[in-house]
Amino acid sequence: MKRLHSIRLENNLILRETRSTNLTKLIEAIEANKDFFRTVEFWMAEGSIEDHAKLLVEKAEKTRREKTGARFGLWLGNPGGTKSGSKSDLIGQFNIFDMDKQNKKAEVGYWLAENHNGKGYASKALRALIKFGFEELKLHRLEAKTATTNRSSIRLLERTGFQREALLRGAFKIGNRFVDDYLYSLLETDKRKDKL
Ligand SMILES: CC(C)(COP(=O)(O)OP(=O)(O)OC[C@H]1O[C@@H](n2cnc3c(N)ncnc32)[C@H](O)[C@@H]1OP(=O)(O)O)[C@@H](O)C(=O)NCCC(=O)NCCS
Repeated sequence: MKRLHSIRLENNLILRETRSTNLTKLIEAIEANKDFFRTVEFWMAEGSIEDHAKLLVEKAEKTRREKTGARFGLWLGNPGGTKSGSKSDLIGQFNIFDMDKQNKKAEVGYWLAENHNGKGYASKALRALIKFGFEELKLHRLEAKTATTNRSSIRLLERTGFQREALLRGAFKIGNRFVDDYLYSLLETDKRKDKL
């Protein structure tokens, strides 16, 4: 089996490609954050939390199989680092997906557990994902979509160098409402603080 990617961000903070054995931890993490996700109009599949988590694992496997990006879990703890991540907590997901190989572009999407917001973890993880996209996947353009009301996500994108390009009206169905999204992009050639 192909080696799964992992990216160490700090001694105890690591991005590891999502695999089927992460399902239980994923269900627990989503369950703990479901109210938070609702307040920021973050997309979740219709149905149970378990169905949503299964869908995320299936998407991770499909993305890996088709080589259209990489979907990572963000794990905290376990400085020694076991391969399974069983001694760590799953505190988020940072994904790069829907890669368009012809035009060298892909989309990023992410979430971070509410109790770890405000510490800079998401900025660190997104910067690593950007580097992975440009350096490992050799992409030219990254896109991100975020609800127009999602201020933390907007701040995160702008802090990491993304530029707002468009308003996507009624782009996502959240509950029984259609919400507007902003489309953001970052080009490999754009200036970034973390790029020399
Ligand atoms: C969007 C989301 C990932 C942002 O998380 P976050 O914790 O605000 O982002 P960071 O981890 O980068 O932390 C940044 C905040 O921590 C503060 N901070 C503290 N230490 C920091 C450090 N070392 N480096 C950077 N920021 C730091 C910053 O000042 C900033 O606060 P501010 O936004 O009030 O200015 C998170 O809110 C989330 O998961 N939301 C729900 C899901 C979601 O909306 N996903 C996006 C859908 S498109």
